Amino acid sequence: MTFDKTILITGGAGFIGSHVVRLFVNTYPNYRIINFDKLTYAGNLENLSDVQGAENYVFVKGDIVSAAEVQKVFADFDITDVIHLAAESHVDRSIEGPMEFVMTNVVGTVNLLQAAKDQWKNNESHVFHHVSTDEVYGSLSDEGLFTEQTPYDPRSPYSASKASSDHFVRAYFHTYGLPVKLSNCSNNYGSHHFPEKLIPLMINNIRELKPLPVYGKGDNIRDWLWVEDHAKAIDVIFHKGEFGQSYNIGGLNEWKNIDLVFFLCRLMDEKLGRPAGESEKLITYVTDRKGHDMRYAIDASKLASELGWKPSITFEEGLESTVDWYLSNSEWVEQITSGAYRAYYENMYQNR
Ligand code: NAD
Ligand code: TYD
Repeated sequence: MTFDKTILITGGAGFIGSHVVRLFVNTYPNYRIINFDKLTYAGNLENLSDVQGAENYVFVKGDIVSAAEVQKVFADFDITDVIHLAAESHVDRSIEGPMEFVMTNVVGTVNLLQAAKDQWKNNESHVFHHVSTDEVYGSLSDEGLFTEQTPYDPRSPYSASKASSDHFVRAYFHTYGLPVKLSNCSNNYGSHHFPEKLIPLMINNIRELKPLPVYGKGDNIRDWLWVEDHAKAIDVIFHKGEFGQSYNIGGLNEWKNIDLVFFLCRLMDEKLGRPAGESEKLITYVTDRKGHDMRYAIDASKLASELGWKPSITFEEGLESTVDWYLSNSEWVEQITSGAYRAYYENMYQNR
């Protein structure tokens, strides 16, 4: 079978990557999708059990930090395009150990850029789409939104590593003409989200009647977007975005952490048939995260006006479907949180 494109999707076994792989495998039978993933603690092939047998899907276990492995996958599959999601993604882990973030997020990205530059002869017929975060813009006070013009001001080791990777992507565009596109998205939520992040952690702890650790006073604000809407935005930008441009992606959906935790408690009391107010008793205020960014909020009007993307569902709908997914997939949660992760989490929690 011949394919119109062979797209290397890095980090396809992770949370967002698995949604992007599924969307592309199912929507574009004329594209061959190569999922290149190291399967760290955050990567799980169970996330993609439904596309495993598809004719246009191939999984390759590999590490973007190894230039040799990256060059090999480019050569073996004659890669025509890249959607780059592989990363170390958790801020708390970056505070504990920044070097892994430098290696994967910075060195790994440069290895991919270099392989694309070496392999691609005619830049116009390829796309290198780099998936990044709004955290590169720093932290907002009460007013304002991040636009594509907001100066970079990363403040955690995670966001500093992602900002650095964004700079390298732009440098390859300006210096070598590599056909890059960038997107910077707000906080995602949805199915298959690793339960060290706020929303799935709270859902699981509510279900298991464990403490709900709210950092500081819970006043910090995040702008939440349903992961499937992020995947659709990546599809639109990959196909229609302009080379060298960045696009902000967000849901105009700001929530204070504590309000979100209360909302989840109420929703889950209803779903689990618990008396009203039962789960709220689990809320536990713990020591704040070091350097905790106060507020993120995205202006996604460029993406809406130029490429016609907008979120497809409300936060209430998305949260309900997410809670339902976690309640009916407790085996998935059990499988990925057993062993090393459980020990890590218990240790983190005890130290707060
Ligand atoms: P995740 O941690 O769930 O998944 C990361 C994936 O990358 C895993 O499958 C892991 O195995 C893989 N990986 C890690 N190191 C690797 C390496 N050296 N080589 C190959 N594969 C490796 O992350 P996520 O939340 O799905 O985020 C995906 C991307 O989207 C990241 O680049 C992140 O910065 C960005 N992003 C995330 C969010 C969010 O809310 N989660 C928001 C905006 C942007
Ligand atoms: P997180 O999901 O780690 O995403 P990010 O730090 O990339 O925005 O955290 C979201 C918010 O929730 C952030 O303000 C930190 C806070 N938080 C808690 O209060 N308790 C928790 O256990 C976690 C994981 C996060």
